[in-house]
Amino acid sequence: MSQAKNLASVPHRVSADTRSQNFGHEGAVVWLTGLSASGKSTLAMGLEEKMLALGYACYALDGDNIRNGLNANLGFSPADRAENIRRVGEVAALFADAGLICITAFISPYQHDRLLARRASSRVRFHEVYVSADLSTCEARDPKGLYRKARAGELCDFTGIDAPYEVPNSPDLIIDTRYNSPAQSLDHLLSYLLKQHPIR
Ligand code: ADX
Repeated sequence: MSQAKNLASVPHRVSADTRSQNFGHEGAVVWLTGLSASGKSTLAMGLEEKMLALGYACYALDGDNIRNGLNANLGFSPADRAENIRRVGEVAALFADAGLICITAFISPYQHDRLLARRASSRVRFHEVYVSADLSTCEARDPKGLYRKARAGELCDFTGIDAPYEVPNSPDLIIDTRYNSPAQSLDHLLSYLLKQHPIR
């Protein structure tokens, strides 16, 4: 709910149908959630590249990127993560409302925050995709050295070590990056989306 009073809702003169005719497909949100190093960013950027080449209008929002700009004032407490996901949920909903396929790559560890993001996108399709790799797999990958720092006590509130990750109860899709290569995982995600959002 807005804190401000005396606000009106200004209707657009362009309908969702007109926008989707323009792009040749519906707007949607593809919400990737999973542990750090589970493969979310690799999948998001790969998906953006492949879908764009196929003629889709899409854009990927990534946790590290957004936290360098829009959300630069937020840390990793539960309240800050909630605000991070609230803002991203609203931004993704705007992208999708504009007619794009918005791909998001955020740990988004709390079930409730993800539910609110889904609700923010109630006018478009919202696909919650669980990028699944267990903690020991992610820790072995450790591309940014953050698990090592967290284990050494140099970084606190790190997801999977001393901050929780709530596994999705009923995701729309599970991509298992533990047993599949990045290329296989991307193919799996891409073929799911091409079926869900065929280009007209
Ligand atoms: S979220 O939990 O609020 O959704 P988000 O996806 O935006 O997190 O950011 C996660 C990225 O921030 C990680 O990929 C990692 O590079 C970096 N990071 C820095 N500190 C932490 C931390 N304490 N917990 C998790 N990720 C962290």
